[in-house]
Amino acid sequence: MNILVTGGAGYIGSHTTVALIESGYNVIIADNLSNSSISTKKNLETITNQELTFYNIDVADNNALENVFSNHHIEGVIHFAGYKSVSESVEKPLYYYNNNLISTLTLLNVCEKFSVNKFVFSSSATVYGDNKPPLTEKMLLSPTKNPYGETKVMCERMLSDIAKSKEHFSVAILRYFNPVGAHESGLIGEAPNGIPNNLMPFVSQVAKGKHKKLNIFGDDYQTLDGTGVRDYIHVVDLAIGHVAALDNLTNGVHYYNLGTGRGTSVLELVKAFERANDVEVPYDLMDRRPGDIAECYADVSKAEKELGWTAKRDIIEMCRDAWRFEKKHHI
Ligand code: NAD
Ligand code: UFG
Repeated sequence: MNILVTGGAGYIGSHTTVALIESGYNVIIADNLSNSSISTKKNLETITNQELTFYNIDVADNNALENVFSNHHIEGVIHFAGYKSVSESVEKPLYYYNNNLISTLTLLNVCEKFSVNKFVFSSSATVYGDNKPPLTEKMLLSPTKNPYGETKVMCERMLSDIAKSKEHFSVAILRYFNPVGAHESGLIGEAPNGIPNNLMPFVSQVAKGKHKKLNIFGDDYQTLDGTGVRDYIHVVDLAIGHVAALDNLTNGVHYYNLGTGRGTSVLELVKAFERANDVEVPYDLMDRRPGDIAECYADVSKAEKELGWTAKRDIIEMCRDAWRFEKKHHI
């Protein structure tokens, strides 16, 4: 089956490309490299031992996208392409609404024109806003307080409306928790531009000596040790979750949390990283970061029951693989 993977050169898209190929799917990637590098194509070819079909196009470019659908008999789409920084979206809302909404609308129009009815969408735990964990798919979405989160809510609603209006449209909306780690080869992973916002890449860069210390944002939350708790999921488990969603796609709209169901505090993650890799991660305890919540973790029973999928890799493996990639790839 031919699957179009938009954003396939990015962090989650590249790992999902590997998982799809390993499961027998044929992948066509469309990515404008706005947050990735063409070297990922080569690395994917090394990992999968095959040539990849890659289009350097903007998914919001209708003609370029129609050309891809004319060249290949696309049977399903996994849509990763989009911008993903919460803080950047607050500074540049229009930039986020333009890219994340127009790319999705253009893609959906082209899917309709070419009668492609299988769609998997990258959403985020951020849509749950202030709901209290464990977070379940049935919860009402609350305002997300940032334009990035709003784009995810809006795309979810568009997809749900389309599924209601078209009998044969199948869509899986996957709400990711905190993806970390990298492929075991160390060839692909998360390579953020500039100073990382997210915890794991920052921890890796401190271990490497790129920054003196990690700033831990808040030690006075109502959590086991006062630091923020998140549901970290190995990116390879997340990638396999996409294959499970595609394999089990049926008509209508389906929402799934992809996480481990376990919360890990910032301090626990730092200690796990030190233990897994025999390195030191010095840190300072700082004030809370604006906009952060105390705890976020998934109820993963729906994905387990309906997709037969669970995350297998533990926090030590996540830390080990993140460090292997960091050592290989960053200055
Ligand atoms: P990423 O930035 O590494 O990958 C996104 C890819 O899409 C990049 O390669 C980029 O070049 C490409 N892209 C962006 N806009 C495009 C466009 N208009 N046309 C073509 N290509 C375009 O991000 P990621 O971490 O792999 O995230 C993938 C998806 O998952 C995003 O939609 C993101 O919002 C969502 N998500 C990510 C996280 C996370 O923590 N990483 C959490 C929840 C949801
Ligand atoms: N943290 C630090 N120091 C840092 C970075 C983070 O202490 O330098 C803490 C945060 O305060 C938080 C935890 O580490 O308690 C995790 O923070 P991240 O920035 O790694 O992740 P978030 O949970 O804030 O957000 C991430 C993505 C969002 C996505 C969300 C849920 O960045 O896009 O997970 O999927 F919506």
